[in-house]
Amino acid sequence: MELTEDQFLAQLMRHLLKSRGVDLSGYSPSFVLRAIKKRVGRSGALDQSDYLKKLLRSENETNELLNALSINVTEFFRDQGAFESFSAKVIRPLMAERVSAGGGVLRIWSAGCASGQETYTLAICLSEEMKRFPESGKLIMSITGTDISVSAIAKAKSGIYSIEELKGLPDNHLSEYFVEGPDGFEVIDRLRKRVRFAKENLLVRPGARFYDAIVCRNVLIYFSRQTHEVVLKNLHEALRLDGYLMLGRTEALMGALRSNFDVVDQENRILRKKR
Ligand SMILES: C[S@@+](CC[C@H](N)C(=O)[O-])C[C@H]1O[C@@H](n2cnc3c(N)ncnc32)[C@H](O)[C@@H]1O
Repeated sequence: MELTEDQFLAQLMRHLLKSRGVDLSGYSPSFVLRAIKKRVGRSGALDQSDYLKKLLRSENETNELLNALSINVTEFFRDQGAFESFSAKVIRPLMAERVSAGGGVLRIWSAGCASGQETYTLAICLSEEMKRFPESGKLIMSITGTDISVSAIAKAKSGIYSIEELKGLPDNHLSEYFVEGPDGFEVIDRLRKRVRFAKENLLVRPGARFYDAIVCRNVLIYFSRQTHEVVLKNLHEALRLDGYLMLGRTEALMGALRSNFDVVDQENRILRKKR
């Protein structure tokens, strides 16, 4: 039976909400329809009903649709001031604490990292802060980037970016942390060895992980309020006591968890888990 456009859209939105927690109800319908029509054309589907069948069966098509909706958009040093603040208010005190303890591990999670620009930005921030602490060579630094999109994680693992994808990266960092190769600019080994990537769904409870800091930026904005709270609960659980959480500039804590964090920097959405 042929679906009306409204029925098609309603079923598609239900699928994204149920499978990914992504709530498109706040988006402009014309924007959503344009992106969907692009995917219907490119996927080889015969019509909207056929596309819906493909979408419900295929995780890959769900990722492609989210890509078409620009949900994987990212860049190096996105909102530069946020990373300056994160370096000064999070990395620096954590590094000072570990150095004065004579060593240890510093663990950061870049949750919803898309194609890795945010994760490598954090690796660059750590390297820059290490310059302030001559004894920091003894520390073990570990940054984990995770995302639900397999294609985004594959790109992040490659560590190779075109000049357009390096938008936002200061020139001095480009020459210090990348080498130019035949396929683009490649992250140097010194950064790469501190970084690992994995596919992971933020809606699934991660268990106790004891991260010192979690950066989860521009991810919650796509979620319904209910999903938002589930994800925040999972992030809270994955942080050690006194651990830091940085959200995107337009994101805020919602619900009961608000009282479990202190605000470190309101403008840059940096919070700290209460003891
Ligand atoms: C706009 S990008 C943000 C990338 C980066 N954090 C930044 O601020 O530039 C949002 C990312 O969240 C990911 N995402 C969406 N739902 C997710 C989920 N349930 N679990 C993990 N990642 C998810 C998307 O695949 C996408 O790569």
